[in-house]
Amino acid sequence: MHDKPERRVAVFGAGYIGLVTGACLAELGHRVVVRDIDPEKIRLLRSGDVPIYEPGLGDMIARNKERLTFTVDLQEALDGAEIVYVCVDTPPSASGDADLSRVWAVVKSLEGASHLRAVVVKSTVPVGTGTLVRAALDAAGLGHVGYAANPEFTAEGTAVHDFLHPDRVVVGATDEATAHLISQLHQGVDGPVVVMDVRSAEMVKLASNALLATKISFINEIATLCEKTGADVEEVAHAVGLDHRLGRHFLRPGIGWGGSCFPKDSEALRQLASNTGYHLQLLTAVIEVNNLQKRRAIQKLKDVLGSLAGARVALLGLTFKPGTDDMREAPSTVLAARLLAEGAEVRCWDPMARPAEREPWTSTSRHASPESAVEGADAAIVVTEWPQLTEVDWTRAASVMRRPVLFDGRNLLDPAEMRAVGFTYLGVGRP
Ligand SMILES: NC(=O)c1ccc[n+]([C@@H]2O[C@H](COP(=O)([O-])OP(=O)(O)OC[C@H]3O[C@@H](n4cnc5c(N)ncnc54)[C@H](O)[C@@H]3O)[C@@H](O)[C@H]2O)c1
Repeated sequence: MHDKPERRVAVFGAGYIGLVTGACLAELGHRVVVRDIDPEKIRLLRSGDVPIYEPGLGDMIARNKERLTFTVDLQEALDGAEIVYVCVDTPPSASGDADLSRVWAVVKSLEGASHLRAVVVKSTVPVGTGTLVRAALDAAGLGHVGYAANPEFTAEGTAVHDFLHPDRVVVGATDEATAHLISQLHQGVDGPVVVMDVRSAEMVKLASNALLATKISFINEIATLCEKTGADVEEVAHAVGLDHRLGRHFLRPGIGWGGSCFPKDSEALRQLASNTGYHLQLLTAVIEVNNLQKRRAIQKLKDVLGSLAGARVALLGLTFKPGTDDMREAPSTVLAARLLAEGAEVRCWDPMARPAEREPWTSTSRHASPESAVEGADAAIVVTEWPQLTEVDWTRAASVMRRPVLFDGRNLLDPAEMRAVGFTYLGVGRP
C-alpha cells in the first residue's frame, strides 16, 4: 500500500459546492485554498463563520483548519497549487443557456500558471464546454496542463455526506494521466470513480438532473389524476416505488421542484438541445408540468376560500427543501408572488431562509414561529417539509386561525388528524 498522496488544490468559488468540495478534499488529507471574489464571504470564513447553512460543513471546516485556508487573492490561491477546481456559479443567461462568464473569468486568470497539473470544472456546464476550455488553456500556453470535468451530484442539506459517500464520482478527462490524478484525489471516498470522456461526463450531470425532475413531475401528474379519480397518490407512489426497476426515490408528490439546480439545469439542457436543432419533447413537458403545479396550489386555495383578495395566507417554509437556507428558484417565491397578485396578505415562517430584499418578499411579513404566522390567517400552506412543522400544536393553530384551511403542499401531515382538529385539509393527490 502506498501512502495517499497529498495534493495541493485551489478551489475557485466559496459557494455551496466550492465550500463542500474544499472542506471534503481537506478532510481527505489534501491541502486546499478556497478562493472567492466576494470579500465578505472570505472575511466570514477566515473568522470561523460559514456564510451558508449546510449541515456538518462548519464542523468539517473547523476540523481541517490546518489544511484549509480562504483567500480573495489570486496569487495566494495559485501559489504551489497542482490542481484548480472551478466551482463558480453558472446561472441561466438571457437565452436560457448557462452563463459561463464566471467560468471563463477563472480560466483567464490561470494564464501563466504553468506549474499546474490539472484544471477541473465541477460547475454544471453545457456539453462541449470542456473542449472550449481545453482550447483556451492550449492557447494560453498551458497545453501541458490536464483538463477534467468532475460534475457534482451532492444534494444541499446532505452535501457533506454525499461528497464522501457518493453513488459515483464521475471524471471525464482528456488524457489518462489527468483521469488518474483526479481519481486518486478521491482516494478515501466511499464510492466508485467512473472515468469517461469529457463530453459524456458533462452530459451525465445534465441527464441525471433531468431524470430526477422527470420523476417528480411524473408523480405530480399522477397526483392530479388521483385527485380526479379518487385514488391516493401516497399509496400509489409507495407501491410503484417498491418495484426495484423504478425505485422509491423522487416519487414524492408536492407543489413542484425548485432549487438552484433542477430549474436551471433542465432549461440549460433543453436549450442545449435546441441549439442542435432538436426539441426535447419530454423535458419540455416536465418543465411545463412543474410550472403548472405551483399555480395549481393557488387555484386549490381559491376553490375553498373563493376570492383571495384580502385573505391572509401563511407560507410555512420558504426554502426549496428542508436542510438548507437556499432560496434560489424556491416554489415559495412563485406562491408569494401569485398570492400578492390575487390581493392576499402573505405571512411567512422559515427557520433558515434569508429571502432576498426584493419583491415579492418585501411585501410579506416574516414570523418567528409557524404558530405566530398562522394566527388570524385564512389559510396556511405547508411549502417546505421542515421537521419543525410536525411538532406544531395544530389543534391550537386551527383555533387561532380566522379560517382553519390547511393546504399541505408536501403531504407532510396526517389528513385524518388535521381534519379531526378542525382543519379543512387539502393535500396533493390525496382523496
Ligand atoms: N448548489 C448545488 O447543490 C449544486 C449541486 C451540483 C452542482 N452545482 C453547480 O455548481 C456550481 C456552483 O454552484 P453553487 O450553488 O455553489 O453556487 P454559489 O452561487 O453558491 O457559489 C458560487 C461562488 O463562486 C464565486 N465566484 C464567482 N466568480 C468567481 C471567480 N472568478 N473566482 C472565484 N470565485 C468566484 C461567487 O462569488 C460565489 O461565492 C454551479 O454550476 C451549479 O450548477 C450546484
